[in-house]
Parts: sequence; structure tokens; C-alpha cells
Amino acid sequence: MGRVAWVDGRFVRLGEPAVGLEDRGYQFGDGVYEMVKVVEGVPRDFDRHLARLARSLAQIRLAPPPRRELLRAVAAELLRRNPLRLATLYIQVTRGEAPRAHPFPAGVRPRVVMAVRRLVPPSERDRAEGVSVLTTPEIRWARRDIKTVNLLPNVLARQRAAEAGCREAVFVEADGTVTEASAANLFILDEAGVLRTHPADERILPGITRAVVLELARGLGLPVEERAFTLEELLRAREAFLTGTTSFVLPVATVDGRVIGNGRPGEVTRTLGRAYCERSGIPELARVWR
Ligand code: PDD
Repeated sequence: MGRVAWVDGRFVRLGEPAVGLEDRGYQFGDGVYEMVKVVEGVPRDFDRHLARLARSLAQIRLAPPPRRELLRAVAAELLRRNPLRLATLYIQVTRGEAPRAHPFPAGVRPRVVMAVRRLVPPSERDRAEGVSVLTTPEIRWARRDIKTVNLLPNVLARQRAAEAGCREAVFVEADGTVTEASAANLFILDEAGVLRTHPADERILPGITRAVVLELARGLGLPVEERAFTLEELLRAREAFLTGTTSFVLPVATVDGRVIGNGRPGEVTRTLGRAYCERSGIPELARVWR
């Protein structure tokens, strides 16, 4: 059975033409989105995703924002029509459809699109052994906290990583600061045994998984600092892992071919990976870390 999407009030087959050429998302990348993990038909941390969406919309002055009750109701119906054990719920809001001109169009309603897709978790092997990542210069814009559909630098970086046989690309600023990956945040357990990740400022996307993992780590009494680290510190780290709606908690085994720690997922990564999967209602994915 094909997937069903929702476009401004209409249920359509996913993949069917449903948005016009003049949509500003298509012409300018003038829009924002969310990607929510869904387990057994239930969107996880939906309130946090909706809050981040509202913030992204406000930051790009996209108004009026869709009502939360509408988004919830459509999500519930879409998930009923797309029964999957593990899925992503995609929500995209663009500045609507209008003849191409850079300034905001007058009197045009934002366009809301929602889609449900199967979520294939990282493979058992990747979770058990850790993945390889490739570093790449940070060439994105200065407002990465906004979850915009402008993902060209992320796409180019990810393609380079894929061509090198790597799962993810990790962005590194000119001064050596590591920001995040193309579609995930990055944590290290540093040489002093402190769990660190880049602070949630304008240089990274404030990941929902990142926030959940920070809460879990603090709840376990682990020393945690939201403090940026450099590539050098990453290479010297005892452990490193990615977090994201589609990455879950994913151990990093090598960076640019250099082994992190002892090359195996470490104790802290495994503990947090287990805690995250159990909290998310997918305990079967935690088994590799027992
Ligand atoms: N990406 N950083 C970037 C640049 C991202 O695109 C994402 C998520 C994350 C992790 O955020 P979260 O934990 O809220 O998923 C960090 C989604 C999954 C995507 O574009 O596919």
C-alpha cells in the first residue's frame, strides 16, 4: 500500500504532484520543517517538535502559523492511514505559492504539507560497532538554529561522506570548532570523562534527541557540559556519538579514518543508547548494547 500525505487540506498519495511550481519552498527554500519520530502510531516528543516549529516560523516571520490543534488532528489521521511500527512524521510549512519575487507576497497563506514515511533505524551492525564519519568545512549560514528546508550544504556534505563510505558528515568551523553533523548532533565523552556537546546557540540545530539525551545523562548523574569542542578534542575523545530523530543514539567509531577511543562503542554511549531506546518505546533496539 502506498503512503498517504496531506497537502493544505487534502489527502494525496505521497509522490503525487500536489504543489505548484511557484511554491516559495521550491523557488527559494522559503520554509521550515520538522521531522518527528513515530512509534506505534504515537509521535514522540510532539510538543517539543511543535514548539521548535513555532520558533522556526517566528524566526523567518512566516505567518499566520498553522494552529497546533490542526497539526495534531492531521497527524493523528495521517498516522491512522499509514500504519507503521516505526515512522517519521514530516511537517513542512512554506510561505505559500505566489509569482516569483523575493519580498514576502501579500495576502498569501502559508502552505502546510505533512507526510509519514517508514523509519529505518541504523543497522544493528552500525549500532553495535559504531559508524565512520567524515569531517567537512562548516559552510552553512549563520542561523542553523532555524530548521529551514535550505539543506544544500548538508546534502553536499552528506554526499561526500557517502562517497567515502561514511554514515555522516561532521561540520568543522575554520577555528577548529565542531558544530554538528549534516542531520544529527554530536556528543563526546572527553578525556576528563565529561559528556560534551555544542551549546544550543545559532551555530547548531537544537536537536530534540540532543535535549532528551542531555536530560537522560543528567538524570543518571553523569557530568555534562554544553560546551563546544574542537576537532582535536574529538579525535582525542574517549567516546563519541550522534543523536537525531533518524540516527537515534549512534556510536562513532572513526573520524576521518582515525579511531575514537578503543574503536568500540563505550560504556557511556551504550548506557545512553539503551536509555534513549527504552524511553522511546523501542527497547528491542537497545539489545545490542547490553
Ligand atoms: N534532521 N542537526 C541537524 C542539522 C539536523 O538536520 C537534525 C535532524 C539534527 C537532529 O535533530 P533531532 O534530534 O531533532 O532530529 C541535528 C532531521 C532528522 C532530518 O532533516 O532528516
